[in-house]
Amino acid sequence: MEFKHKSVMLEECLSGLNLVDGGIYFDGTLGGAGHSYEILKRKNTTLIATDRDIDAINFATQKLSEFNGRFTIVHDNFKNFKKVLNDLNVFGVDGVLLDLGVSSYQLDNRERGFSYLSSETKLDMRMDRTNPFSAYELVNTYSEDKLKYILSTYGEEKFASVIAKNIVESRKIKPIETTGELTKICDTSIPFKFRRDTHSAKKTFQAIRIAVNEELDGLEDAIRDMVKALNKGGRIAIISFHSLEDRIVKNVFKDFETACVCDKRFPCVCNRKPVIKTLTNKPITASSEEMQENSRSKCAKLRIAEKL
Ligand SMILES: C[S@@+](CC[C@H](N)C(=O)[O-])C[C@H]1O[C@@H](n2cnc3c(N)ncnc32)[C@H](O)[C@@H]1O
Repeated sequence: MEFKHKSVMLEECLSGLNLVDGGIYFDGTLGGAGHSYEILKRKNTTLIATDRDIDAINFATQKLSEFNGRFTIVHDNFKNFKKVLNDLNVFGVDGVLLDLGVSSYQLDNRERGFSYLSSETKLDMRMDRTNPFSAYELVNTYSEDKLKYILSTYGEEKFASVIAKNIVESRKIKPIETTGELTKICDTSIPFKFRRDTHSAKKTFQAIRIAVNEELDGLEDAIRDMVKALNKGGRIAIISFHSLEDRIVKNVFKDFETACVCDKRFPCVCNRKPVIKTLTNKPITASSEEMQENSRSKCAKLRIAEKL
């Protein structure tokens, strides 16, 4: 299948990163290299990029080939940012970009088992297909309580208890193997009036995908490492698609922005100084034109900060 992905808030990210000639940039979520391509094209920059998905790595390597010698792509989780930089003997960067979540290619490629719109596809949802743990294992082995927790926390699914119960009942008869079988369970678990406007399986699939790929685990530490590695004046831009991710980004930025935390009636003993300045008090959202053109951009939030 052809690799198709439309970059979200491309211009907003690029101007937010404030590219400089000679700068080193890190793109943790390379995907179709839409953002990375512009980072390399607009200024004489060096790029280090990671992705967990071999398909993305292969496609992006090809797409960026005109800039050979100026970029390094590593098949890794961006949470290993510190190690990736160390291995390359790089000790500071001028910009970091994270465009979190999945690409349209991953969602649309039925083989990958992310989509509730396909039916006969094996449940998979792994961004990194070298990882042995897929949605199949999760759905067929997790306890009812754990399933309920995942569906309500990562999917904000109101019917998490019923769906979790029905998953467990159904797998007593036979394992749940396909995306279609899971979709059917969601359909029968949610009363019609609550599934008129959105697909009954949307939230369940999102929740399971986040859990399978451990999308929230270690995100905070990774952002902290990235902020610390920024050179003075360097920028970090993060696009999130889910309120839990956005909250993590917002809180880390806020923490790094905080100055003295001592009781104001006494002299400061903490010596704490702000490390960054957040440039987006409210997150940037896509323009109405972009939202019309690319429905994926509708829930995207972009936050940008600058190292002091
Ligand atoms: C939304 S897409 C990025 C699209 C890209 N910015 C573009 O313009 O083409 C997200 C990509 O990040 C990858 N990804 C998500 N979480 C990751 C992680 N923790 N480490 C490395 N790659 C990750 C996914 O495999 C996917 O290819």
